[in-house]
Amino acid sequence: MSDLIEKAAKIIVKSKNLIALTGAGISAESGIPTFRGEEGLWSKYKPEELATPEAFMRNPRIVWEWYAWRIDMVLSAKPNPAHRALAELEDMGILKITITQNVDNLHERAGTKKLIKLHGDILTARCVSCGYKQHLSAPPKDLPPKCPSCGDILRPDVVWFGEPLPAKAIEEAFESARRADVILVVGTSGVVYPAGLIPHVVKNYGGKVIEVNVSESAITEITDIFLRGHAGKILPVLVLKIKELA
Ligand code: OAD
Repeated sequence: MSDLIEKAAKIIVKSKNLIALTGAGISAESGIPTFRGEEGLWSKYKPEELATPEAFMRNPRIVWEWYAWRIDMVLSAKPNPAHRALAELEDMGILKITITQNVDNLHERAGTKKLIKLHGDILTARCVSCGYKQHLSAPPKDLPPKCPSCGDILRPDVVWFGEPLPAKAIEEAFESARRADVILVVGTSGVVYPAGLIPHVVKNYGGKVIEVNVSESAITEITDIFLRGHAGKILPVLVLKIKELA
């Protein structure tokens, strides 16, 4: 493994335009369950039935109860060494952009600044009618919460099944993928599109793919270097190696 980490570090040190794509696995060591896998959220709840506009129209209270539980979890979680390692790589001027599918705020809290959030933000509520947005520092008390601007109901400002991704975020993400010479893919199953396409775009434009995951993913077949293990263990070691070489 240390040979592979050294190889990855060399590629990264030589890179001119490194980007990162992260998924739920990077927050697993902060105590936020991933979506897929035995311990995944989806084994206890059925997001396919809850995280949809139809479910929300049918029963906004139940959907909000599920989000309130997750909001509590995000608020009590802390960034882990993997989030901090990416923030440090950005500070060093090496990592140019981090693209995340996560709706938690752990990258921001770790200090990442150039962040593209593809799937929205669980700590923001948005009015279904007038678009008013509200930051949530706690789960709303009365569910579903009412819009203070127009009186209609607020929804979580996240992307649900069947909904398009925020246009600006997706344009910026794909533009950065076309420009990247290396992508570091961390803790994603790679099965949700269009996010799962981003490493393929980097590869098709001649870039290299380095993946960190506890198990193989849909991305692994196109990776140049696969670093198997926990992101919170591997990324700090990778950053140390990069510092030695830089
Ligand atoms: P998944 O739950 O699909 O995948 C998590 C990945 O993280 C898996 O490949 C695990 O093997 C890996 N993993 C788990 N723990 C890890 C650790 N400590 N270190 C490294 N890797 C680890 O999560 P995503 O790929 O993020 O979308 O799922 C993509 C999207 O599916 C989510 O953003 C969500 C869901 O539908 C929306 O809500 C729109």
